Amino acid sequence: MNLNGLDKSRLPRHVAIIMDGNGRWARLRGKSRIEGHRRGRASVRAVVELSRRLGIPCLSLYAFSTENWLRPKDEVHALMSLLEHYLEAEQPKMVRHGIRLMAIGEKERLPPAVLRTLEHAERATRDNMGMTVLLALSYSGRNDIVKMVQTMARKVQEGTYKVEDIDEAMVSAHMETGSIPDPDLLIRTSGEMRISNFYLWQIPYTEIYVTPTLWPDFREREYLQALLEYQRRHRRFGRTDEQVNQSLHTAKGGR
Ligand code: FPP
Repeated sequence: MNLNGLDKSRLPRHVAIIMDGNGRWARLRGKSRIEGHRRGRASVRAVVELSRRLGIPCLSLYAFSTENWLRPKDEVHALMSLLEHYLEAEQPKMVRHGIRLMAIGEKERLPPAVLRTLEHAERATRDNMGMTVLLALSYSGRNDIVKMVQTMARKVQEGTYKVEDIDEAMVSAHMETGSIPDPDLLIRTSGEMRISNFYLWQIPYTEIYVTPTLWPDFREREYLQALLEYQRRHRRFGRTDEQVNQSLHTAKGGR
């Protein structure tokens, strides 16, 4: 693969992906939605592999939202079964390549067999330091915030913290993403311009990249394009261009 133009020293530390368009991909080809999800699994493999090869430390994949439980029973069942098989098949590879798998979301709502496989994969990979794959399953950004508020309120009630102690770092640490840095880049496939209840607290200055490519067609080449576009962006974090250039200059000067 030609990585021409990609600056390996300025890669995102955390890429988050809203994988969308499996259904449309299938409909365009007269196939079942489930076939679309099956093809989508190969794209999951492609982005995990390329992230690992490039040395991107963290990848979040929005695989199943809380709202997805409302889909037809057959489709939910097929997605759960795909997930289970994916975890079984990929676990040895994750172990070999130093990939840690972590799931976030309402794991307790998953079918018992999926939960068992998931927890097994989490345990088997928990000491891996090469890269973290965060799988968002039955995840909802708002629910994540509600749970954080409940935990913090309980701790204040128990006297562990005072209300005045609460700051942004503490809130971040109590989100499901915990110590994982905020995403630098959020990719959404299939052209929709929305967050769909994925990360809400975690993306204040995340660069957003939306591509019309449907998820089953999003492979190495498309991922690379997203990374190149990310490197073309000028991130200011609310500051002026002059301030950003000055701080870059200072950093390079080693002061
Ligand atoms: C969105 O397409 C995709 C999903 C709801 C599920 C994502 C699942 C996979 C990529 C397959 C397996 C995942 C793993 C981690 C092995 P959509 O159905 O919303 O597409 P549409 O908007 O075109 O209908």
